Amino acid sequence: MSTALVIGGASGIGKATARELYSAGHRVVIADVDAEAARTTAVEIGAGEAGAGDAGGTVESIHLDVTDESSVAAGFEGLDDLAVVVNCAGLSMPGALIELELAAWRTTVDVCLTGTFLVLKHAGRRLIEGGSIVCVASLNGRQPGAGMGSYCAAKAGVLMLVEVAALELADRGIRVNAVSPGLVDTPLTAGIAYVPGLTEEYLENTPLGRAGTPEDVAETITFLTSSAAGWMTGAAIDLNGGAHLKRYPDVLGRVRALAQ
Ligand code: NAI
Repeated sequence: MSTALVIGGASGIGKATARELYSAGHRVVIADVDAEAARTTAVEIGAGEAGAGDAGGTVESIHLDVTDESSVAAGFEGLDDLAVVVNCAGLSMPGALIELELAAWRTTVDVCLTGTFLVLKHAGRRLIEGGSIVCVASLNGRQPGAGMGSYCAAKAGVLMLVEVAALELADRGIRVNAVSPGLVDTPLTAGIAYVPGLTEEYLENTPLGRAGTPEDVAETITFLTSSAAGWMTGAAIDLNGGAHLKRYPDVLGRVRALAQ
């Protein structure tokens, strides 16, 4: 049974991805900085999937902090037959550039961009020939949002790192791709509901008229890890109901209006 490591797999998109890969018959290892949440998610997936075990999947959890190289290296240690690595770890610390604390910038860039570098570095060393890496970037990797400078810059960097990694790992048949979701309903975006008009503005700028679900993204990630995507590398899939065709909501303006 091949192993799939899902980093940031305790919650949201990572959790849905872990469930998909488990159902597809992988040995799934959920890795997260929140070890307790990772354990709970592993138990939930392992216990709750009637019939999913038929495919032969197993699920377990480990602690892993993408900002700490020794933690990333330890997480990859001993993972035999590692065929799939998905990096979903991420967070956002919003703020206008002229107000953003350096520490907040560093936290976002550390988790989203430097974390992706460390995952690519160690995944590239440990994956079997023909393995697959999927990194979760964002619509904000190509569409700017006022008040989201650190996140936008980090995610744009993720898209380029994925392209470089695809070039460097192709000689071992390892494919490296990205997904770029728009607004997805997860704990990360729960705060949006508290900003009047913001959800509506997102949806007005989303031609398909709805937010994504974690499953929307997990299914595309699973496709990218599968042989159906065997000729895809260095690609980024926009997954946003068409939001990249319109404009990003005025997050900063709406948050400022709320504060007045
Ligand atoms: P989430 O907050 O539900 O899950 C993120 C997971 O990453 C959490 O389990 C968290 O503990 C983990 N994590 C945070 N820092 C970590 C670290 N240093 N090391 C290891 N794990 C860490 O968020 P969601 O929405 O599932 O986000 C997953 C990815 O999707 C992130 O990279 C996010 O930037 C990206 N994304 C999310 C969108 C959305 O609308 N929800 C839109 C576009 C991209």
